Amino acid sequence: MFDALPERVQVYEVGPRDGLQNEKAFVPSEDKIRLIDALAAAGLPRIEITSFVHPRWIPALADADRIAGHYRGRSGSTWTALVPNMRGFDRALKTGMSEVAVFMSASETHNKRNINKTRDETYTAFEPVFAACAEQGIAVRAYVSTVWGCPYEGEVDAAEAADVAARLLAMGAYQISLGDTIGVGTPLQTRRVLDAIAARVPLGDIAMHMHDTRGTALANCVVGLEYGVTTFDASIAGLGGCPYAPGASGNLATEDLVYMLHGMGVATGIDLDRLVDAGVLAQTLLGRTLPGRALQALAAGR
Ligand code: HMG
Ligand code: MG
Repeated sequence: MFDALPERVQVYEVGPRDGLQNEKAFVPSEDKIRLIDALAAAGLPRIEITSFVHPRWIPALADADRIAGHYRGRSGSTWTALVPNMRGFDRALKTGMSEVAVFMSASETHNKRNINKTRDETYTAFEPVFAACAEQGIAVRAYVSTVWGCPYEGEVDAAEAADVAARLLAMGAYQISLGDTIGVGTPLQTRRVLDAIAARVPLGDIAMHMHDTRGTALANCVVGLEYGVTTFDASIAGLGGCPYAPGASGNLATEDLVYMLHGMGVATGIDLDRLVDAGVLAQTLLGRTLPGRALQALAAGR
């Protein structure tokens, strides 16, 4: 165990999108921008800043066009955003995004509840998005949600998730992020998932997007490291959840992940101290203590 860990991994920050999408009280655009700036200052190389979904479905991110427009042409990080269809792509293009992320589920029921389409209808809706992105030179990441379990269907066949991942990669995604949307995964299951995925897709093209609902996210990431996965998604202070996945609270906290990686000698390029600043800011902006555990310990020790 731990013989061949990657020397360096990339942490992909989803707090401003996956984290804030679930907030009941609307976070003003200026506050979102302060948080995104703090994350960039901590050295996060890719930040998912918003989501071009329908504002009726995700009112918390109804200011997507404004947020993305603010970061148009700005250096500091690679800014990216969720796009569910061509309407979302058009909005992303208008606001100057150089990278977007499409998303669908391994399970049919979650896909239907989340984006109002069957999986087959979703591939059809994504085709013009991939084509337009290729034409415009926009990179596309693709999420496969509910890989470790579905809130409606229970266990999900890993071979089926691998099928979705392979198909999205073939359509033109540069990376597939595998989501434990409801945070049910455990380490031996993660081995089974990654074995099934590796049979269809190079693990170098995979990211892991773990929710920490039951406290198993880091343990699953360690399995990913052993398999050679080098991109991990996380959310500042553990903000987040999916409104169309009951019980999906708690993304893996970025500070918990970075603390563990640095302790294991795996470089991220992130300044943990400044990351804690961003976590403290998130708590101030939202007016409550957030779930990240390293954040509480490190902020208390100051
Ligand atoms: P729909 O109602 O089926 O859309 O929603 P439609 O195509 O039938 O269009 C209906 C109306 O919506 C039309 O307007 C469209 O123009 C408009 P009208 O003609 O009636 O005036 N419309 C849009 N407006 C703004 N932006 C758009 C857009 N698309 C259509 N992009 C839709 C389909 C996908 C839009 C809807 O279901 C939706 O927005 N869903 C988003 C749900 C969501 O964001 N969920 C959380 C994402 S998190 C996640 O999935 C998990 C992840 O974190 C990984 C993990 O944890 O596993 C990624
Ligand atoms: Mg998520």
